[in-house]
Amino acid sequence: MKVYYIGLSVSTHDPALAIVDQDGTILFAEATERHLQYKRAPNCEPDNERLPSLLKEYCDPDAEFVAAINWRKFSVRFSRLLCQLGITSATAIFNSSDTDVRFNTPYSLRTKMINAFAASMYDRLGVGFTYAMKLGFPRSRYSIRHFPHHLCHAALASYTSPFDEASCMIVDGAGDFGSFAYYRYREGKIEPVAEHKGFASLGRYYADMTWLCGFNPDKGEEWKVMGYAPYGSLDSRCYELLKSIFTFRRSRIHGLSNKTYQEILRKLQHWLDSGTLDTANLAHTAQQVFSEILIEAVRNFYQLCPSQNLAMAGGCLLNSSAAGMIEENTPFQKLYVPSAPADDGTALGAALLAYHENHPGKAPGKRFGNPYLGSKIPRVKMEQVIRIAAIPNLEHFPGTIHTETARLLSEGKLVGWIQGKAEFGPRSLGNRSILADPRPEGMKDTINARVKFREEFRPFAPSILHEFGQEYFENYQESPYMERTLKFKNEVQNKVPAVVHVNGTGRLQTVKAEYNEKFHALIRSFHGLTGIPLLLNTSFNVMGKPIIHSLEDALSVFYTSGLDVLVVGDYMIRK
Ligand SMILES: [Fe+2]
Repeated sequence: MKVYYIGLSVSTHDPALAIVDQDGTILFAEATERHLQYKRAPNCEPDNERLPSLLKEYCDPDAEFVAAINWRKFSVRFSRLLCQLGITSATAIFNSSDTDVRFNTPYSLRTKMINAFAASMYDRLGVGFTYAMKLGFPRSRYSIRHFPHHLCHAALASYTSPFDEASCMIVDGAGDFGSFAYYRYREGKIEPVAEHKGFASLGRYYADMTWLCGFNPDKGEEWKVMGYAPYGSLDSRCYELLKSIFTFRRSRIHGLSNKTYQEILRKLQHWLDSGTLDTANLAHTAQQVFSEILIEAVRNFYQLCPSQNLAMAGGCLLNSSAAGMIEENTPFQKLYVPSAPADDGTALGAALLAYHENHPGKAPGKRFGNPYLGSKIPRVKMEQVIRIAAIPNLEHFPGTIHTETARLLSEGKLVGWIQGKAEFGPRSLGNRSILADPRPEGMKDTINARVKFREEFRPFAPSILHEFGQEYFENYQESPYMERTLKFKNEVQNKVPAVVHVNGTGRLQTVKAEYNEKFHALIRSFHGLTGIPLLLNTSFNVMGKPIIHSLEDALSVFYTSGLDVLVVGDYMIRK
């Protein structure tokens, strides 16, 4: 009988669902926020009412199903107990409009009740599986397995990496115990090396810095601190204070007691309120301390578990500025970070763990370079909309859509570009992207004013043909998932000002035909017209919303924003 592994991230933030088949092939992986169009989908079930249709689409209904959960059973039960007792958890923060909860203000009764209710989903499968059973998938053919949270991160980082052997390091906000976990990956097996138990958490530290800078980490606004940091400078008093939060003893990282840590946060808040600390300087200093601690932790890990290769995951690896510094500043020679290093990725990690548990020692197969694992817009849907909606200015360019689009981009048009399956992870990598010409100085402001409506200090990313990486970036490293930020060479910065951040860097995506043939062809066409081998690439969404999911979402953004062109497959709509 066939077996499918249904990975579920049931974390309170970034729930997600993944499907792996009996051959270990990844059939589907997607964060719940996309389907619901609800940013980060806090407290939502990953196996919601959509699951039966996904099972019908991807699985044989007569198969067996293994549900793989991304937390230990103990953690799930313990978390529920804590929530029912009204003791703090991240869930409460999501459900409270009272921003003071971040510094341990007692929660309201309402918050506690919502918290307990939300947490109760942890130790059962959600409505999706209930519906599935009613629709003819008998309960007797399901089994449930729980896996350690950081092992799920490690499984994604290891099994999707290009490495046969690697050291694997997880740096997270929290796990079943601590927030750092170390593994060794070889011959298809992941062995634990060490797990830190204690208060040291780079994820928690950065979330608190995000709050202090006036942004909301529960909405994933850590990126804003990273984008804002280059506008400030190092504040030495703040630096000393932040550096005191983490210490290293015998290759292990240690944090302060919660009480002392809270005192530091209050002191920083006081400095901000009294005007003796500038917010941009705090962002800059906090980012620098984050990078220094991360690099020191990686160097220590090398002593413990040396290898040429390093696979990393955990929410902290979304910090592309710090990730871009690792290869240059540590003994590891190659770094791999998956496209979904945060908790959405653990759905796929859990599914892969369940698969490899049933197939011990089996080689993971070729999974590197394909982050395109989510939903696609069916052709029949496009044809239906064309027929019913009578869309004006619609054209069909089978086989030549990339040349037509490149021409319009070179004329300064803003293009919504949809191809194939959606990316798994928070970044648009050429299948759900808004694209523009990187040459005009004012293009960044144009996109912000006409489409994205977001803060002007946030940079836009370049997607560059891999073969031109050395020409444009110092110490060029491949970055297929926009996982690292590198410095543009001085001599090219004025060629592409719309994608050069104020400190001369760019969070690049390196594009190869083998990763994404159509996107590669588009950038090549643009290069042929302009001599520039890169495009400005930003996610196809508006501020505060997830990346678009359906054709209706795309049309809605297109007709309510300043986008000039919408491309879906080989179809093009122009305003
Ligand atoms: Fe995590």
